[in-house]
Amino acid sequence: MAVRAVPAVGTGLTTTKAPFIEQAQAEGRLYIHQPYELYSEANHDAWRRLFSRMEERWRRYANPRFIQGIDSLCLDPNRMPRLEDVNRFLSPLTGFKAKPVSGYIPSFLFFDSLRNREFPTTITIRDGATLDYLPEPDIFHDIAGHVPMHTDRAFADTLVRFGDCAHTAAEIVAGIEDEKEKIRRVTSIFKALARFFWFTIEFGLMRQGSELKVYGSGLLSSYGEIAHSVDSPDVQRYPMQLEWVINQYFEIDRYQPLLFIVDSFDHLFELVGELEGWMREGRLNNVAPGEPAISEPDLRSFLEAPVGR
Ligand SMILES: [Fe+2]
Repeated sequence: MAVRAVPAVGTGLTTTKAPFIEQAQAEGRLYIHQPYELYSEANHDAWRRLFSRMEERWRRYANPRFIQGIDSLCLDPNRMPRLEDVNRFLSPLTGFKAKPVSGYIPSFLFFDSLRNREFPTTITIRDGATLDYLPEPDIFHDIAGHVPMHTDRAFADTLVRFGDCAHTAAEIVAGIEDEKEKIRRVTSIFKALARFFWFTIEFGLMRQGSELKVYGSGLLSSYGEIAHSVDSPDVQRYPMQLEWVINQYFEIDRYQPLLFIVDSFDHLFELVGELEGWMREGRLNNVAPGEPAISEPDLRSFLEAPVGR
């Protein structure tokens, strides 16, 4: 009986099962290229199925700027997106680009990328057998959930301002001598930033006349939760309150029971400015404990950040 050798490459770019990604991670390479030829037919099929079932949900639940974004990026519903093609349509609109990464990017570097109008983008796609549940981001979440929002000027500027916030945080922390206090302060500011990001960029709702529309990418890339977030009586929906959001813990592995509503993208932009102001005033130094915890790479990324740029 012949034994067939397993090829090191060419086996697809499926989340947690991609040798190309494993190799990049083993070599410590965060920024990579998108080896488009490695996508398998099963990968293209997963994209096609994810995209086609979302289309009617987007038309019904997504905010109009997202719908316009989907249209202006000219995503192919049937084939995995090529980041170069996406960027050809995206960059002239807001200067943003999707930048391929091998996996998790430490928090400061992630925000710093946004400041440079680069969005760290996962290139793997979930296994077609589990379209619904995926703990880690994939290309469908990043390209179909996040990137269409980056075609909107106010939204794009909001992300850049997030990057400014991360720099402000690094500057504040760099000025603290006591090592223990430094770590305590980064941890608290990180929680506030991560919570704000979660309840807006990932899970935000927006008022649209008498209706609520979705603009958060975690919702925009979830077939089940996009409808649940707007229709279910089990979800608490409140007008955005900064003092609440920065103190509110969240869990990532379930439908969100609590969501916050902003009035517009200009409103969102102003809120990030307010967040930065609060940081400078010391109001993010003692936020409520709880999720998210700061990981060692996240912590180090802030402590080792270049300041004064
Ligand atoms: Fe995301």
